Amino acid sequence: MSDKPKIFITRNIPDQPLQRAKELFDVEQWEDDWNIPRDELLKRVAGKDGLMTLLTEKVDGELLDAAGPQLKIVANFAVGFDNIDVPACTERGVLASNTPEVLSETTADLAFALLVSAGRRIAEGDRFLRAKTPWVWGPLMMQGQDIWGSTLGIVGFGRIGQAVARRGRFGFNQKIVYYDVRRASSEVEAELGAEFREFDALLAEADFLSVHVALTPETRHLFSTEQFKKMKNTSVIVNTARGPVIDEAALAAALQTGEIFAAGIDVFEKEPEVNEELLKCENAVIIPHLGSASYGTRIAMGELATDNLEAVLLENRPGPTLLNPEVFKG
Ligand code: NAP
Ligand code: GLV
Repeated sequence: MSDKPKIFITRNIPDQPLQRAKELFDVEQWEDDWNIPRDELLKRVAGKDGLMTLLTEKVDGELLDAAGPQLKIVANFAVGFDNIDVPACTERGVLASNTPEVLSETTADLAFALLVSAGRRIAEGDRFLRAKTPWVWGPLMMQGQDIWGSTLGIVGFGRIGQAVARRGRFGFNQKIVYYDVRRASSEVEAELGAEFREFDALLAEADFLSVHVALTPETRHLFSTEQFKKMKNTSVIVNTARGPVIDEAALAAALQTGEIFAAGIDVFEKEPEVNEELLKCENAVIIPHLGSASYGTRIAMGELATDNLEAVLLENRPGPTLLNPEVFKG
C-alpha cells in the first residue's frame, strides 16, 4: 500500500500535470470527459487527503463531510470559485485554492475574439455562407460596429478585465471606462488611460461592454431588462465571467427587440443549457465556456492546482493561491 497522500481528480486533465500528480500522490481519477455523477463523487472522495475539482462540481458541506475529517485541501481547476462554499471549507479546517493569473491572458484573448466576432458579425457571416445563401458584395450587406476608436466599458476591472482593457487600448485604440466595487490604482488607470464610471453611466457610455466580475449574490443578474434599456442600441455585450451575471431571457429579448446590437457569450445561466430564445438570435455569438481553453493554459491550470496540493500535502506550507489561507496551521 502506498504511503503517499491520497487525492481524487474529478475529470480527465492534461497529461503533464496528471503525470506529475501521479508521481507525487496516490491518485484516483474520474477518467472521463463527462462530469462525474454526484452520488459517485460522494463515494469516491471518501478517505482522500486532497481533491482536484472542476467548476462543474459543487464543493459544499455534504461533499466535505463525505470526504472525511482527514481532507486537507480542495484545489479547484479554475479561477472562479462560485462552485465552492469557502466558509464550509473553513469551518471544517479544509483549505481551498483556485488558479488565478495563469489564465488571464488566454481568457482575455477569447473575450476580445467574442467582442470582434459579435461586433463585426463574423459567426453570422460564417453561418450565412455555410447555408449556401445567395449573395453578392454590397454596401449595405452585413454592416457591423466599428471597434477601432470606440469606447470599451469593463465591468469588473480585475485581472482579466484589465487584460481585456489592454487589448482594447493598445490594439484597437479604444477609450477605456470601467466599473468595479474598488477603484483601480492610479498607476493602472494611467497605464490604460482608464476612467472610472458609476455603473449606470458606464452602461450609457460604452459601445462595447465586457463583463469580468466573479459570480456572487451581488452580481447575480447584474444585467437584466433595466440595464439593457440603459445601453446604446448599437452596443455589444460580452460575457466571459459567469452565466448568471446576465439574465439570459432578458438578454435574448434585448437582442430580439434591438435594445442592444449584439452579444458574445461564453458562459450560460443554467450551464450547459442555453436559453432557447438566445439560440434563435442571429446577433448572438455563443460558445461553450472556452475562455481558458488553450493547450498551454490548461496545462498551467493543472500545474497550479497540483502546486497547491503539493505544498499543503507534502511540504507543510501554504499553497500559492489559497482562498482561505487563515486555515493553514503549519
Ligand atoms: P478578479 O481579478 O477577482 O476580478 C474580478 C473583479 O470584479 C475584481 O476587481 C472584483 O473586485 C470585482 N467585483 C467583485 N464584485 C463586484 C461587483 N459587485 N461589482 C463590480 N465589480 C465587482 O478575477 P479574474 O481573475 O479577473 O476573473 C473574473 C471571473 O472570470 C472569475 O471569477 C470567473 O468567474 C471568470 N472566468 C471565466 C473564464 C471562462 O472560461 N469564461 C475563465 C476565467 C475566469 P474585488 O477584488 O474587490 O472583489
Ligand atoms: C473558468 O471559467 C474559470 O473560472 O477558470
